[in-house]
Amino acid sequence: MHEFFPTHVYTSVLQRGGSRDLNRQLLNEGRQLRADDAAGRRWSAKNYRGGYTSYGSSHKLHRMSPTFQDLERRLKRHVKAFAEAVDWDLTDRELAMTDCWLNIMSRYAVHGLHLHPLSTLSGTYYVQVPAGSPGIKFEDPRLDRYMAAPPRSGHARPKNRPWVTLPVVAGQVVLFESWLRHEVASHPTAAERVSVSFNYNWF
Ligand SMILES: [Fe+2]
Repeated sequence: MHEFFPTHVYTSVLQRGGSRDLNRQLLNEGRQLRADDAAGRRWSAKNYRGGYTSYGSSHKLHRMSPTFQDLERRLKRHVKAFAEAVDWDLTDRELAMTDCWLNIMSRYAVHGLHLHPLSTLSGTYYVQVPAGSPGIKFEDPRLDRYMAAPPRSGHARPKNRPWVTLPVVAGQVVLFESWLRHEVASHPTAAERVSVSFNYNWF
């Protein structure tokens, strides 16, 4: 049996030795941003109920803050590893970060199924993930072509399932192609789930 056309999801710790100091700094700046960003809080109340995201207001944090710029620098080797795994030819082209924004999920916040249009590579870095907090759930991009496929057995291997949830922890990076739909289920605990998401583009 050949297996063609795989869907790649990359995951790794950001750096060996942990990211405690970076995470503390990102958390402090993130909470300060939420306090200062009235436009973002309004946008979130409409589009991200129960949570705060700077997606609609401050979505170039890597250009605004040395801490987020530092995160961008540390992500570079991971982005390179992804590009190598999928055999992208980036000769004379740079896969550059175009957007970088913060997400804070409070209790019962949900991040509905979506993809990232107008981008090539997307991903998330996890700053704080309380125990019991959901992972990131991916949907098979061929779902609308299955037509008469039978349901999967309860023991189906992850590669054959139409949805896969990847557990996440603080200090972890996840990367995937921007067309891959994903969601985060309802966050059940009072402690906040904090992450930084980003897009890369090559043109
Ligand atoms: Fe997303």
